[in-house]
Amino acid sequence: MFILGLESSCDETSAAVVEIVDGVRSVRSDVIASQIETHRLYGGVVPEIASRAHTEAVSRITYEALEKAGVTLREIGAIAVTTHPGLIGALLVGVNFAKSLAYANQIPLISVNHIHAHVAAAYLSAPSLKPPFLALVVSGGHTSFYRVDDYTAFREIGGTRDDAAGEAFDKIGRVIGLPYPGGAALDKLACEGNPRAIPLPSPALAGDTLDLSFSGIKTAALNYLNGMEQKGQPICAADVAASYTAKITAALGQKAQKALELTGMQTLVLAGGVAANSHLRAVLEQICRERQVTLVMPAIGLCGDNGAMVACAGYDEYVRGNFAGTALNASAADDPPADFPQAFSTRC
Ligand code: KG4
Ligand code: ZN
Repeated sequence: MFILGLESSCDETSAAVVEIVDGVRSVRSDVIASQIETHRLYGGVVPEIASRAHTEAVSRITYEALEKAGVTLREIGAIAVTTHPGLIGALLVGVNFAKSLAYANQIPLISVNHIHAHVAAAYLSAPSLKPPFLALVVSGGHTSFYRVDDYTAFREIGGTRDDAAGEAFDKIGRVIGLPYPGGAALDKLACEGNPRAIPLPSPALAGDTLDLSFSGIKTAALNYLNGMEQKGQPICAADVAASYTAKITAALGQKAQKALELTGMQTLVLAGGVAANSHLRAVLEQICRERQVTLVMPAIGLCGDNGAMVACAGYDEYVRGNFAGTALNASAADDPPADFPQAFSTRC
């Protein structure tokens, strides 16, 4: 079967067709219209501009995805759309478009959680992957550990108490002059610097907790940069990037080890935009090799927001008969209210 996946939770409009044969998922097309260049002018995502850009792109990229996949709407078995969490205006564009398309063409509609979708991208890179496993989702808005006991059974067991890791990377990237979003450029720059050059606090909270806090390291790095400026001393941006990255990735590695210990899981899945970070990938590769734990990381192109991951997560809801109706809504929250009408009842 084919599932059309639609993603519009932040600054990427994406539509993709995923084919599922005997439970194995593969990408037939994955079209992404990125708004990064637009938001770069403001140093961050402007929600109203994001919603307008999604509105302009969503129809065009959906038909482009179908064409690239060589599939007609008649052949689509379900339409999966991100409903939460994210920017509410941005989400509503995708949700309303998906509802209209599903209703007009009598195609089953499926509500997808953006975080679950990031994790589901791993099934595309590792078709043999099966729950249970431990998942670490690291993105611009989230940094959390999940027990994934079944395809749709996620339990958050720890994570950041304040900023997300991606947000922390983007903030320091901006201060040292990298264009928004600074994460990927900071990753490259960190390869050229000394990771021990600047003392910074660890974001890993002490004790058995799986929680982290990025506000302290962010403030410490800002204080260092401001102090150097006040003293009229030059900074070595590569050393800042390397020291900052080393502390953040070591903390994520430390908590990942703790989470593996506490849960006894034998597989770790890394997901989200920050999963593209080369230093984080290397830290987790070493930890998993030493512990003889299987590490699954989506291909770099599937780490950031994309429609294929949404279609993938949609398949797991599809096999459980979790269909949404025309009352389907969007929610900015991680856990939408109990009366959130994703309606696993009447089909469109
Ligand atoms: O998952 P994502 O595309 O969007 C959200 O759901 O937030 O993640 C975007 C985040 C941004 O903060 C971006 O800077 C970061 O992922 N990112 C990276 C890298 N590539 C993207 N951070 C560190 N290293 C990278 N290579
Ligand atoms: Zn995301």
